[in-house]
Amino acid sequence: EKLVVAVVGATGAVGREMLKTLEQRAFPAHKVIALASARSAGTRVPFNGTELTVQELTEESFEGVDIAIFSAGGSTSEKFAPFAAKAGCVVVDNSSAWRMDKRCPLVVPEVNPQDLEWHNGIIANPNCSTIQMVVALKPLHDAAKIKRVVVSTYQAVSGTGQKAIDELESQVRQLFNMQQPEPKVYPYQIAFNALPHIDVFLDNDYTKEEMKMVHETVKIMGDESIKVTATAVRIPVFYGHSESVNIETEKKLTPAQARAILTQAPGITVLDNPKEKIYPMAIEATGEDATFVGRIREDETIENGLNMWVVADNIRKGAALNAVQIAEMLIERDLLGVKDTTVFQ
Ligand code: A2P
Repeated sequence: EKLVVAVVGATGAVGREMLKTLEQRAFPAHKVIALASARSAGTRVPFNGTELTVQELTEESFEGVDIAIFSAGGSTSEKFAPFAAKAGCVVVDNSSAWRMDKRCPLVVPEVNPQDLEWHNGIIANPNCSTIQMVVALKPLHDAAKIKRVVVSTYQAVSGTGQKAIDELESQVRQLFNMQQPEPKVYPYQIAFNALPHIDVFLDNDYTKEEMKMVHETVKIMGDESIKVTATAVRIPVFYGHSESVNIETEKKLTPAQARAILTQAPGITVLDNPKEKIYPMAIEATGEDATFVGRIREDETIENGLNMWVVADNIRKGAALNAVQIAEMLIERDLLGVKDTTVFQ
């Protein structure tokens, strides 16, 4: 068949990476449509050696479209994804709008591909910090059953979007020119700083980003017994999220066993040789597909515990690549089309 794919938010940081990823992986699309807001209708975005003319996203955009990959913010997804599903177009949504909705699978292809089977037209792509963490947790959970996770993140500004990439760059320039930058995207200066504040604060004094990691991990891993506590921090890095992950397992896993398991696991590259100063770093993960794991060592304060350092390109595995992998899997498993188009109406 002749597959038609729409990228919603095609002018954004993730949307552009989605187009690049479709191109690099030679995604079997007959036609790719670039959609964004009325503001950028008529502008062009690069694709496959040429350019696509951006069209305005409307309720009618999905007629004849098989797959729509959304990365245009939560409110856009909330409003427009149901129109896509109604038109029989399967949505892979990168926003947080649908992730915890019981009607929507929340999928990382290496972890829970089976959840794609019960989709109703809208499939959610998890939060970037959650994706790379669960890719590393799943094989360890299968081997030793994870009881508790303590994670602290070191997150790149690109996760906030193009305007935040621009803000970090301009703040660095201003500071080197003895000018005091005026924060716009973040509440405080991000250059040469660390902000323990990602997304909004909730009633329990955690941020929404932190609680996404708690709830999404349980949903993706399909195990409500896994306890997760998180601290999410924005740092002045352009691309690549890093995470300090501490796990407590039911069964004992030595660092050597964990290393061996992770080396075999899909989507993971182990970089772990302290003597040779080999460990994952954001600048080396940038542009890569893998989730990198290193600094694997015993947590000597508990019976069965490990510490590790997990790094991935937040725009690629954390967003665009994971979404495109889901789309590829829908084709492979013959899961295109929407069986019941009334679910989201
Ligand atoms: P636009 O360029 O027209 O504003 P980022 O995450 O890098 O900020 O990108 C956000 C993406 O979402 C952009 O492509 C942006 O398009 C798109 N977008 C934002 N609001 C809407 C909307 N109401 N309808 C369609 N696309 C939107």
